[in-house]
Formats: sequence, C-alpha cells, structure tokens
Amino acid sequence: MHRLTVLGIESSCDDTAAAVVRLDAGQAPQILSSVVSGQTDLHAPFGGVVPELAARAHAERVDLCVEEALTQAGTDLNGIDAIAVTAGPGLIGGVLAGVMCAKGLAAATGLPLVGVNHLAGHALTPRLTDGLGFPYLMLLVSGGHCQFLIVRGEEDFTRIGGSIDDAPGEAFDKVAKLLGLPQPGGPSVEREAEQGDRRRFALPRPLLDRPGCDMSFSGLKTAVLRERDKILAEKGGLTRADRADLCAGFQAAVTDVLAEKTRRAIGDYLDLRPHAPSLAVAGGVAANTTIRARLETVAADLGLGFVAPPLSLCTDNAAMIAWAGIERFRHGARDGQDLVARPRWPL
Ligand code: KG4
Ligand code: ZN
Repeated sequence: MHRLTVLGIESSCDDTAAAVVRLDAGQAPQILSSVVSGQTDLHAPFGGVVPELAARAHAERVDLCVEEALTQAGTDLNGIDAIAVTAGPGLIGGVLAGVMCAKGLAAATGLPLVGVNHLAGHALTPRLTDGLGFPYLMLLVSGGHCQFLIVRGEEDFTRIGGSIDDAPGEAFDKVAKLLGLPQPGGPSVEREAEQGDRRRFALPRPLLDRPGCDMSFSGLKTAVLRERDKILAEKGGLTRADRADLCAGFQAAVTDVLAEKTRRAIGDYLDLRPHAPSLAVAGGVAANTTIRARLETVAADLGLGFVAPPLSLCTDNAAMIAWAGIERFRHGARDGQDLVARPRWPL
C-alpha cells in the first residue's frame, strides 16, 4: 500500500483522544491531527481518577474528539483506511467507550478495525517520532506502568524488569496529594522540587541493593508521608520550603532508582549484542526534565543513543494508537466486531 491513513482512538485512563496519522511509502509518518481532551478538572476534587466518572466523560466526548481529529486533519471517514482503537489495558468503562465508538464507525463505513494494546502504543512511539529501527530498549514510565522492554517488533516485546508495586507516576501523584499539591502530581512535584533542597531528607532508594532491574516505589511514598507527619507533629503545618524540600528529595530518589536500574537494564540488553543500540523512554513520567536528563546521561555513558518523544507524545494520546495501528495493519492485523475490551492485557 502506497499510503495508509489511520484514525486512532484512546480512552483507557483519563484522557479522551483521537488522532489521524498518515504513512506514505518511503516517507516519515505524519501526524495530521492529535486531539486530547483531558479530565484533570473532573477528577481533581477526588485526588485520583474516579473510574465511573472517567467512563461517562469518555462516552460523552469520544465522538466529538473523533470529529475534531478528522476536521483538523482536513478529511472525513472517506479519507481513512483503518480505525485503530485502544482495546486495553486500562479502566474498563473507558476502554469500552472507545471500543464501542470504533466498532460503530467500522460497522457504518466498512473500514477495517485494529485493536491496539495501550502499552504497545507507548512502546512504539519512538518509531513514529524518530523512525527508530528494531530492536531497542524501552523504559516505559507512566502513572499506571513501569517496565523495561526489549522491543524487537511491532508485536514482539520482552519485559526484563519493572516496578513490583506502584508506578512512579502514581507515586508522584500520591506524594502531591499528601503535600496538598494539585493533580496530576508529576508536574506539580517537579515544579516544587526546583526550589527545594534534595539533601534535607534522607529518603530510601528501594531495591537498589538487590540485583536485577525490578523497582519499588510504594515505600518511598510512605517515607515521604512519615517525614511530612514528623513536621506536622513538630510545627503543626508545612512551610513552602518543607514542601519544596520533600518534593526535591522524593524526585531525587525516584531519579536515582530509575537511573541505576536503567544502567542494569542496558547491561542486560547489550548482552544481546544489538546493532545501533538505543534507549527510548515513554510514558508521562518521561516528561520530567530531571529524570529525562539523568537517563540521557546513563545512556550516553554506556554508548547508547537516547530517544525521548516530545512531551505531548509521552503522555497519553491517540497518535501513538493510530501509529501502533499502522504498524499492526501493514503486517496484516485485522479485528472484527468481536474485538474485546480488556482491563488487563500484558504485552
Ligand atoms: O502516560 P500517562 O499520561 O498516563 C498513563 O499513566 O498511562 O502518564 C501520566 C502520569 C501521571 O501519574 C503524572 O503524574 C505523570 O505521568 N507525570 C509526571 C510528569 N508529568 C506527568 N511525573 C513526573 N514528572 C512530570 N513532569
Ligand atoms: Zn499511558
């Protein structure tokens, strides 16, 4: 096929998104549109994503996002070759809203349907943005996921380690909540940390003394809670500096753990003797400037190329789903009306 134009739909967490991505033979892929309707304000009063509210908002917004993505791309469904949709993993009510929308469009138009794993969407993004060839090592760090993957093909992922409890983004969100900072926690903790002293609190680096590339972040969050409670017991409240120092200490601990475990994951990956070895990062936490810079240094130290997609393609979006759809579709993948929405779906 000389040209492939795919509509992507994403609704697995708290962003409703639609996008149109085009691949012309022999050229770099083009993102013709990428619409993201976030739900931060909706969930803010609850300090976390409320699945029922998220599902309803997705159901209400997904058609509008699709319409907007087509308009911005300067096309309509006649200009689309296939519909790609996140079929999991994620909050099932949201995933269902996207899958039902995609099935409806496919049934009405006769267009082929391609179900996409959300994690594959993140993991294949460096190919969309930087044309990265297989294989590469991917660190996927988001609010719901934390894993090292060796990516060998559009459906060939080997997990070599990851978090055994919370994902780092989740820890950022919980730390923000316990310090009274706005959600999503990542950007607010990062902002506070800029003013803080990362050495004031001695926070743990969990699992660093153990071999392998597994990680743990829930104990770190509890350590921040303990330090906060100590301050509250002594002074009855937190000052701006207390908050900034706790954020800086926490961010430094997460960065140290990710950097050291990445070093080890790179070691395992290099044992496989890949040609043109690269480390790619994706997921919302990869938007963190400090973490990104450290990972880039680790990669450079070990002679690896470093690829980090632009921030808007690190966090949840539908361009990555459209792209993963293109990758699967051009290798013959097709799904029917029996496509199942899956809350859990390991790569
Ligand atoms: O990939 P993503 O949009 O959604 C999924 O979890 O799939 O990631 C969202 C997560 C949230 O937990 C958010 O707090 C975190 O990524 N995040 C950050 C930053 N920006 C977003 N964490 C640390 N620093 C940031 N700048
Ligand atoms: Zn995600």
